[in-house]
Amino acid sequence: MLSFSFRNGDRLPALGLGTWKSAPGAVYAAVKEALAMGYRHIDCAPIYQNEPEVGRAIAEAIEAGMVARGDLWLTSKLWNNAHAPEQVRPALEKTLADLRTDSLDLYLIHWPVAFKPGVLFARKSEEFVPLPDQPIIETWKAMEACVAAGLVRHIGVCNFSLAKLDALCRQAATIRPEMNQIELHPYLQQRTMLDFCKENDILVTAFSPLGSGDRPAAMKKSDEPTLLDNPVIVQLAAKHGATPAQVLLAWGLGRRTVVIPKSVHPDRMRQNLAATGVQLDDRDRATIAALDRGFRFVDGSFFTGPGSPYTLATIWDE
Ligand SMILES: NC(=O)c1ccc[n+]([C@@H]2O[C@H](COP(=O)([O-])OP(=O)(O)OC[C@H]3O[C@@H](n4cnc5c(N)ncnc54)[C@H](OP(=O)(O)O)[C@@H]3O)[C@@H](O)[C@H]2O)c1
Repeated sequence: MLSFSFRNGDRLPALGLGTWKSAPGAVYAAVKEALAMGYRHIDCAPIYQNEPEVGRAIAEAIEAGMVARGDLWLTSKLWNNAHAPEQVRPALEKTLADLRTDSLDLYLIHWPVAFKPGVLFARKSEEFVPLPDQPIIETWKAMEACVAAGLVRHIGVCNFSLAKLDALCRQAATIRPEMNQIELHPYLQQRTMLDFCKENDILVTAFSPLGSGDRPAAMKKSDEPTLLDNPVIVQLAAKHGATPAQVLLAWGLGRRTVVIPKSVHPDRMRQNLAATGVQLDDRDRATIAALDRGFRFVDGSFFTGPGSPYTLATIWDE
């Protein structure tokens, strides 16, 4: 399995299994199947509300000798309701208990958006905490303390704009962010972000690499483009004797970004894993480069309703 290296030399498998929207009932079987077919990296989050089931599948696979914990990469994320420094470790400990492990390989701040403690999803103004009132650096220091306590090996962020990532790099006391997990696919290529991360030794994970077609209808725009049936991608798939999903994943891997496609279907999971064997050439890459249109499938607008202190402009600094 292709892998990428952290600053200290630790390596994470470059292709992992996404678990957002993987329903209870389906996610247990999907994770077990994934481990059996060779996945060694699972991307989790408490807000996906399926970590206990993911944890049960992992624990059973380890007990059955299918995989050793040391050969498995587990990522999870700090939800928006636990940014207050005193909430960080308890939130991590809940995830550790749910995933049935003593430590995580990677823990990420899920969004640069904060809610009041106990609020699962803020809708009213009084349920939000504006970032100036709960600065990211304070949350980050609590994340650093979790590394010092041996509860997690690496820490990073998700959905951070270049401005927010740069600010955190400058402020961080002991550990500069090691990962930015962001939406990346041919419609949102984020080249400046990739250059910044490379210069600063920050790894990048591409989420929604297949276009996140199973998002709830409320999160979709009526005229949004689809990726898997884009004619350019379909044509390249035919050229390489691959599937459109494999072309999208091979493109992400070729840019040295981790990819974490979500599926609960064994045939697709197998297909996605095999994308590590698909090699695009320079002409293919040039063709795909022309598809960029700055389009976000997961644009954060669900945090920006009436009364929210957050806007798309404050989230993305665009
Ligand atoms: N940090 C963040 O804020 C953030 C945000 C979004 C996502 N993520 C992470 O990234 C992961 C992936 O992103 P995503 O779930 O948004 O979307 P995605 O992986 O781009 O797309 C998932 C969709 O593609 C389908 N699919 C999977 N493999 C396929 C294949 N080979 N051929 C055709 N269709 C295929 C899945 O269907 P089936 O399941 O039915 O096969 C599902 O409908 C998430 O699950 C999550 O772990 C993180």
